[in-house]
Amino acid sequence: MTKEPQPVRKAVFPVAGLGTRFLPATKAVPKEMLTVVDKPVIQYVVDEAREAGIEHFVFVTGRNKAVIEDHFDQQVELEQTLRERGKQEALDILAAGLPAAGQTSFTRQQAPLGLGHAVWCARELVGNEPFALLLPDMVMQDQPGCMSRMMEVYRETGGNIISTEAVDWEETHKYGIVEKGAAAAGGFRITGMVEKPAPGTAPSNLYINGRYILQPEIFSILETQATGAGGEIQLTDAMLKLAEKQDFFGFTFTGRTFDCGSKEGFIKANLAYAMWSRKMARSLGPELRELLDSIKPVDG
Ligand code: UTP
Repeated sequence: MTKEPQPVRKAVFPVAGLGTRFLPATKAVPKEMLTVVDKPVIQYVVDEAREAGIEHFVFVTGRNKAVIEDHFDQQVELEQTLRERGKQEALDILAAGLPAAGQTSFTRQQAPLGLGHAVWCARELVGNEPFALLLPDMVMQDQPGCMSRMMEVYRETGGNIISTEAVDWEETHKYGIVEKGAAAAGGFRITGMVEKPAPGTAPSNLYINGRYILQPEIFSILETQATGAGGEIQLTDAMLKLAEKQDFFGFTFTGRTFDCGSKEGFIKANLAYAMWSRKMARSLGPELRELLDSIKPVDG
């Protein structure tokens, strides 16, 4: 009988990026706190991790991100007021989004040196065990969630798991792309990875969409990882080195992914989640159709 892989108990959320694509909205408000329908972006991603059985949530934050810590704290005065006013539904909503006391940790990436560096900043809090990594800009809509499905693959394969998603071949040069090997446990073996391949050279059309399960050996590689594309310490470069020694498996996500770090992705996420609610779909649907029929851009 094969040995059960070590369980994944912790998740890392790198939230130290500058969010330049969303300025001026993100000047004082972190992009992770922008609202999709009625929850901040970061709450969707934390909920996905909780659903997958994660017990400890590690946030790698930066300057101006303290509000994220406040969001995952109890608001004692607010709760007291809601209780006095008999607002049980609002109290239940607050309780549902809150990890238990002691389940969150926050550390700072002192300078935004890249995703690889942000992950390395979590090394002391993660320790010597496998961990989930979720990029909070990427909101992934599916039931069950992407991380839950990745855990199913992981329980059979162990090793490192990367979530991927099909993209138009013409778009592959914008993303990290994996090379697909033999099928394995509902996923496939990854036989190569390339960051932003030149047009026409991509080994597949499966891009890395922001969810990973990684073994702790990634930290010692990141420790000495030189800067790569864009002058940043790149996670993909470190994963390529780890893949020389350990197995990497791909999982193909078939739900919807919204890059909420971009304006278009953020608006699409709002529409998609609004349409997931029967009540909102009923009231907004006809208005949306009317809007689409009368599009008149004012910027030329
Ligand atoms: P992005 O590539 O989206 O970068 O980072 P960004 O700086 O946040 O946004 P733009 O491009 O300026 O608009 C991908 C993920 O990695 C995190 C981000 O917070 C995001 O979740 N990140 C990136 C860090 O935590 N630190 C970094 O130094 C870079």
